[in-house]
Amino acid sequence: MASGQLSREEALACSECRHACHVMLYSDTKTQLFGRIPIRHIILMQMRFDGLLGFPGGLVNPAEETLEAGLSRELLEEVGVALPVSVEDHVATCFAPASSPSSSSSRLILHFYVKKIEEEQIREVERAAASTATDHGLEVLGMVRVPLYTMKGGGGLGLFMSHTFIGNARSQLVDALLRFNLIAPKDLHKALTHSLKKHAHTAEDLKAALALTEAKRKWC
Ligand code: APR
Ligand code: MG
Repeated sequence: MASGQLSREEALACSECRHACHVMLYSDTKTQLFGRIPIRHIILMQMRFDGLLGFPGGLVNPAEETLEAGLSRELLEEVGVALPVSVEDHVATCFAPASSPSSSSSRLILHFYVKKIEEEQIREVERAAASTATDHGLEVLGMVRVPLYTMKGGGGLGLFMSHTFIGNARSQLVDALLRFNLIAPKDLHKALTHSLKKHAHTAEDLKAALALTEAKRKWC
């Protein structure tokens, strides 16, 4: 087990801890972007109410339901489809990073699952998430697909990775990409290197936007 990781049993033994379960849903695909760039896999994430990218899922109380039943319930609320998630789909459990936003003092344990489904089911999830899901437009602003390719000039996965993610969702994504061989490690390394450069550029961009606001503020 990787350092910082807990077993499912160790986690459940912590009676004063809170638990959150999230899942990465993905499928294979033969689709090509612009008819030439293979998409390879469709991976679903979501834009959350707080402006951060994360995986569908949420808080589960193990005293009332199993982790997996709680995750399926959260999925119904957030993506509008009651996809069954089982213990076999469990990938990793760890304590939430200290920086995670929290209104409670009890420690938060994060359980991460990965579930492979058919491409048609992914499309069904996307349709339901924008129509029947009760959280649509509220806790979930929209589903997003993760681009796994890198285009000339660096567009694709590297730029996606430079967005801001909830807690350790970016690490969960990277872990799943490697664990399930969804991308070659050297391609992921290249994308993350590009991401880091872009991140520095984004800070400059934000400073420029802030300077613009400062100038406008003086007039209004
Ligand atoms: N890494 C670390 N923390 C995460 C991750 C992650 N990948 N994903 C979610 N969290 C944290 C969130 O910050 C939150 O505190 O786990 C907790 C539960 O996850 P959510 O999906 O946000 O929970 P949900 O049950 O869907 O409820 C939505 O309602 O009560 C509010 O603020 C509360 O964020 C919660 C929101
Ligand atoms: Mg949630």
